[in-house]
Amino acid sequence: MEDVQATGRPHKLANCWTCKTADYTHMVNEMGDEAYSIPFEDALQNINESMGCYNCHANTPGEGNTVTHIYLANAMGEDLGKVPGQTAVCAQCHVEYYFAPDGTRKTAPPT
Ligand code: HEC
Ligand code: HEC
Repeated sequence: MEDVQATGRPHKLANCWTCKTADYTHMVNEMGDEAYSIPFEDALQNINESMGCYNCHANTPGEGNTVTHIYLANAMGEDLGKVPGQTAVCAQCHVEYYFAPDGTRKTAPPT
């Protein structure tokens, strides 16, 4: 959380928070793709915790794994069901990703 704020790498928009905090994942799930266009600093107003249970279990830890990062589900489509949940939750952040030019939402690789 501290590193991503202090890094010299550009982070104009909120999408950098995607793999740093469950609060942003929740924000994306509530607001939809518009959340990706929020300025980085503005999103921070609603971020209180780092990565957490929600990232891999939604609000039901103890009942298996849940992919909460919608872009991964969208990118994998039906193939998501072929990957064990334990693996899929890691791939929510540990995956090669792209930002769509319009609104910089996270997206699958260009085909
Ligand atoms: C990075 C992803 C990730 C995060 C974050 C995470 N978990 Fe899990 N959790 C897993 C995985 C993967 C398993 C399944 C392990 C297995 O089946 O071998 C698991 C298993 C569990 C289980 C055992 C029952 C079950 O559902 O399989 C509980 C209980 C649990 N987690 C609670 C929590 C709580 C509480 C938090 C937050 C403090 C948390 N987890 C955060 C990935 C995560
Ligand atoms: C919400 C995003 C997110 C999820 C989900 C996630 N990670 Fe990570 N992971 C990160 C980030 C960000 C770092 C880098 C942390 C740092 O450098 O301080 C990291 C670092 C790591 C590292 C250390 C890599 C290194 O070179 O130091 C390992 C190993 C790792 N993750 C494994 C996992 C596994 C296994 C899972 C699934 C159980 C998982 N991660 C799920 C975001 C995530």
